[in-house]
Amino acid sequence: MTDNSSNQMWGGRFAAGPDAIMEAINASIGFDRRMAAQDITGSRAHAAMLAKAGIITDKDAEAIREGLLTVLSEIEGGTFNYSAALEDIHMNVEARLKEIIGEPAGRLHTGRSRNDQVATDFKLWVRDQMDAAISGIEALMKALIAQAEAGADWVMPGFTHLQVAQPVTWGHHMMAYVEMLARDRSRFVDARKRMNESPLGAAALAGTSFPIDRHMTAEALGFDRPSANSLDAVSDRDFALDFLGAASICAIHLSRLSEELVIWSSAQFRFVTLSDRFSTGSSIMPQKKNPDAAELIRAKIGRIYGANTALTIVMKGLPLAYSKDMQEDKEQTFDAADSLMLALAAMEGMVKDMTGNRESLEAAAGTGFSTATDLADWLVRALNMPFRDAHHVTGSLVAMAESRGCDLPDLTLEDMKSVHEHITKDVFGVLGVHNSVASRTSYGGTAPEQVRAQVARWKDLLG
Ligand code: ARG
Repeated sequence: MTDNSSNQMWGGRFAAGPDAIMEAINASIGFDRRMAAQDITGSRAHAAMLAKAGIITDKDAEAIREGLLTVLSEIEGGTFNYSAALEDIHMNVEARLKEIIGEPAGRLHTGRSRNDQVATDFKLWVRDQMDAAISGIEALMKALIAQAEAGADWVMPGFTHLQVAQPVTWGHHMMAYVEMLARDRSRFVDARKRMNESPLGAAALAGTSFPIDRHMTAEALGFDRPSANSLDAVSDRDFALDFLGAASICAIHLSRLSEELVIWSSAQFRFVTLSDRFSTGSSIMPQKKNPDAAELIRAKIGRIYGANTALTIVMKGLPLAYSKDMQEDKEQTFDAADSLMLALAAMEGMVKDMTGNRESLEAAAGTGFSTATDLADWLVRALNMPFRDAHHVTGSLVAMAESRGCDLPDLTLEDMKSVHEHITKDVFGVLGVHNSVASRTSYGGTAPEQVRAQVARWKDLLG
């Protein structure tokens, strides 16, 4: 006989219940309740299969189905009583099912184990998050494309080393992030395809002697096929690592864009005005409008990459098959997913609402001798000068402008000729920022016509 307080699911061989500390470290119900819907979906598919295969009766399967729907409505309605003594969501649901339907509940666990059950539930949960990430990314891409289209020919400084390099277009800058996000999107799409195999029916680790139909449950749960090795199926968390890896890289991109928005919205830059809806004030400095959303998105990478690192370390060195270590896969994955979705939504809102300040951008575009390369290229083209010599001549002209405190187009033709006598007035045609960007028509270049072509391509791809 077992002590009353031993676990009702596995307490057969135990004479006493767990120590309170044991229960505290063992229970995952505090967090894995987030997978309740997935757990019930998985159990319904499993019960239907057991009946079809003749392992349980149709009557029992029907009772299980009805009972699980009741449990789901209790969970959704907030009336479900979670119990730490029942450890996790799987046993909480099953125990409640037993209270509702009695004996048939005990037949649900035939031919499966919590090991394949948790792998299935977590996969279904992560798969939903991959879908959510894909739509969140697409929404942000669309917001950036709209900005790019509106300002395809606005000029602004392009930077390297955060020093003015060459003029670029606002549209080109926006579309650079579209390319990054497209790679993020493809990482999630790719990971989703790779993970879409059903662990259900792998049972504890070795499969089962019951004549289950794993293809049937795989199909019912939207998987492409059952996983082919039961040991691998219960001990694989690659899908979560793939998710966290893709999320980490996406979070890098979001933090880079955030950083630019923080810089650009400063009084020193004034490249963009962020909307009031995505800014906050200061309680002491009345003039302040802070880019808090951008800063918080910039910071989310810490949690997301932290989760990636944490799960990598949890999984490292685990022998086959399931180990309880793997219960530590969830909390941080949940947190990373929440952080990513929130960051994507906030960035989408911020980008949609922000105003690019065309005049400030254009005024800044011509500073820092940004058309020096255009001048050097002109010397090559018009005077047939080797590029290295042209670079040198241009450098002397930049030094001259710098010593006079003016920009390159402010130098006179005489000034130019004093450095190289063959320079003609035509040179002034390439010193303007608009001509500069318009000339960069190479594929993927910053010319407005190239930007518009990319905008059209992406609008077409995203529908
Ligand atoms: N709560 C567990 C987890 O999240 C479920 C699987 C437990 N399996 C077991 N054999 N104890 O990993």
